[in-house]
Amino acid sequence: RYPSKFVIKALSTPPSVLTQDDLKKLAADKAVEYVKSGMVLGLGTGSTAAFVVAKIGELIKSGELTNIVGVPTSKRTQEQAASLNVPLSTLDAHPHLDLAIDGADEVDPDLDLVKGRGGALLREKMVEAASDKFVVVVDGLGGSGLAMPVEVVQFCWKYNLVRLQELFKEEGCEAKLRLDGDGKPYVTDNMNYIVDLYFKTPIKDSAAAGKEIAAFEGVVEHGLFLDMTTAVIIAGGDGVSIKSK
Ligand code: 5RP
Repeated sequence: RYPSKFVIKALSTPPSVLTQDDLKKLAADKAVEYVKSGMVLGLGTGSTAAFVVAKIGELIKSGELTNIVGVPTSKRTQEQAASLNVPLSTLDAHPHLDLAIDGADEVDPDLDLVKGRGGALLREKMVEAASDKFVVVVDGLGGSGLAMPVEVVQFCWKYNLVRLQELFKEEGCEAKLRLDGDGKPYVTDNMNYIVDLYFKTPIKDSAAAGKEIAAFEGVVEHGLFLDMTTAVIIAGGDGVSIKSK
C-alpha cells in the first residue's frame, strides 16, 4: 500500500549541506524500501536510477534481499547491475514485473512524465509498462524548457524531424537531432536516433500528442510516459515526499 499524497518525512541532515547527488540517493533509498525479496524488478536508467541499482546491489550483497531478478532498461544499467551481482533477466523471460523504479525529467501534477533525456526511453517504456507498479525517483519537480525526446529510425530521420516540428507548430516547437559528445548523431541502444522537441508553450493535450507522435511511420517511441506512474518520490530541500494518485 502506498502512502497518500505528500507524506513528508523530515531529514536528519540539514538540507543546506545536501548536494544534488545526496538528494538523488535519498530518493533512491526511499524507493528501494518498496523492494521485497523475490520480486522481478525493472531497473531504470540515469543518474538517479543508478543510485537505486547501487542500493539494490548493496542489499543483495548483505543478504537483506534475496531472489531478486532485475530487468535492465539500458546497456548502461545492465553493466552496472551485473557489476554488482544483481541477477538479470529480460522482458522475454519475465514479461510480468512486480515493480520498476526509474528517474524522470519532468513530472506533472497527474504524475505523467517526460523521460528519455538519457536516451533510454524505448526500453524504459517497454519494461515499465509491463510492471505492476512503477515508482519514480526525482530530486525536484518541474523542469519546463527541457526537451521531449522522440526515438526515430535512422532512415530518413530528417523527414520525421520536420513532421514532428510541423505537428507542434502552434506550440512553437523546435525539433533538433540529438548529437553525442563528438557532434555525431546520438545512437540509442536500439540503434535509432533521437529527435528532441523544444516547446515554447506547453503541449495542451499530452494524451492526444502522444498518439499523434506514435502514429508517424518511423517513430519508434516518445518520451511521454502517461498514466503509468504509481508513486513519485521527490527529494528536495524540505525532505523526501511521496506523491501518489
Ligand atoms: C533516461 C531517463 C532518465 O530516467 C531521466 O533522464 C532522468 O535522469 P537523471 O536521473 O539522470 O536526472 O529517462 O532515458
